[in-house]
Amino acid sequence: MPGIPLRNGGTAARIAVIPGDGIGKEVTPEAVKVLRAVAGSAKRPMEFIEFDWGADKFLREGVSLPVGAIEILRDEFDAMLFGALGDPRVPSNQHAADILLGLRFKLDLYVNARPVELLHDRLTPLRDRTEKDIRLMVFRENSEGLYVGVGGFFKKGTADEIAVQEDVNSRKGVERIIRYAFEYARHNGLKRVCMSDKSNAMNFAHDLWQRVFKEVRPEYAEIDSRHLYIDTLAMEIVRDPRQFDVIVTCNLFGDIISDLGAQLAGGLGLAPSGNIHPGKTSLFEPVHGSAPNIAGKGIANPLGSVLASAMMLEFLGWKPEAVALREAVRAALQENHVTPDLGGEKRTQAVGDWLAERVEVKLK
Ligand code: NAD
Ligand code: IPM
Ligand code: MN
Repeated sequence: MPGIPLRNGGTAARIAVIPGDGIGKEVTPEAVKVLRAVAGSAKRPMEFIEFDWGADKFLREGVSLPVGAIEILRDEFDAMLFGALGDPRVPSNQHAADILLGLRFKLDLYVNARPVELLHDRLTPLRDRTEKDIRLMVFRENSEGLYVGVGGFFKKGTADEIAVQEDVNSRKGVERIIRYAFEYARHNGLKRVCMSDKSNAMNFAHDLWQRVFKEVRPEYAEIDSRHLYIDTLAMEIVRDPRQFDVIVTCNLFGDIISDLGAQLAGGLGLAPSGNIHPGKTSLFEPVHGSAPNIAGKGIANPLGSVLASAMMLEFLGWKPEAVALREAVRAALQENHVTPDLGGEKRTQAVGDWLAERVEVKLK
């Protein structure tokens, strides 16, 4: 693949597009359509190169993440726009583990940023909560924890079977995500950081989280830092989400709490995320999965992918374009140009078309 000089001095943004499986293949083209409209209106070049990694290729060729993929992405792309992986024909989820976790781990995308932001009052299931009440950022540790795949079976398939799954937490890994959360709060004028763990039960792994948190927090004296056990956090975030600006937690708890947060702000169809290593090729995706229950029907909500694209634009330094794109999404919600999951009647492609037009007008 020809190398176009980019991050250092180039002007075109080079994006790897990985639609994946199920509704990933439906929402990602809409996000790309909208991004093309953004780039065209802003007269800033953006190049898209698509990769067909996913269940079809895995079943056809036995290939999940192709040899050399990591190096190409790392060296020749600025960012990745990812759909979703998961297919009932691959019950082991092997290809998803290889590709998605492979990209997160091998590109060392240690920050999983998952904003929870209510964009229209009517979308929250919480009574009497409005837009100003639900606006927080979840930072999920994304490079280790229970996800590393260390473990094994003993006497598999027998009555005496033992299954072990190790929770791997490094000093470096814990410290960098906690610091990132504090830095994010500081740079964005946010006053509160909450670290959440289960140190009352996980007395090794989360003892490390406790010690690192206590060591780092005095460096951010202007920030009100607090600790909650994850079970309590799950309760408090529903009881009163106004308490939170920034939450930082481990890989598994971040996965769970971000779906909970997504629902408080309108559901999985709207939730975006960034898998980030500052300064390096990073991956942007909706929080949701491949949704086999609605795949192929043309009704998947593309807004999670579009909002992930706005996060990507910001990461690329395209700030005004990111703002315009978010405004267009707000307008779609305001005017009910949305899919059935949000109470609308539009199909996936119609939402994409509408947003592309809207963002063009905004950027002209
Ligand atoms: P899911 O997120 O795919 O779906 C959960 C529910 O939310 C379903 O009812 C679905 O219809 C709905 N939903 C999700 N996205 C939507 C959208 N954009 N518009 C409208 N409705 C939407 O979670 P699941 O069903 O637990 O998982 C399905 C597959 O996806 C599994 O194989 C799982 O491992 C995988 N998965 C992948 C990712 C990823 O690639 N990042 C994330 C989560 C799950
Ligand atoms: C997510 C997904 C993944 C995760 C799965 C598909 C491995 O749920 O991106 O939230 O747990 O990280
Ligand atoms: Mn998840």
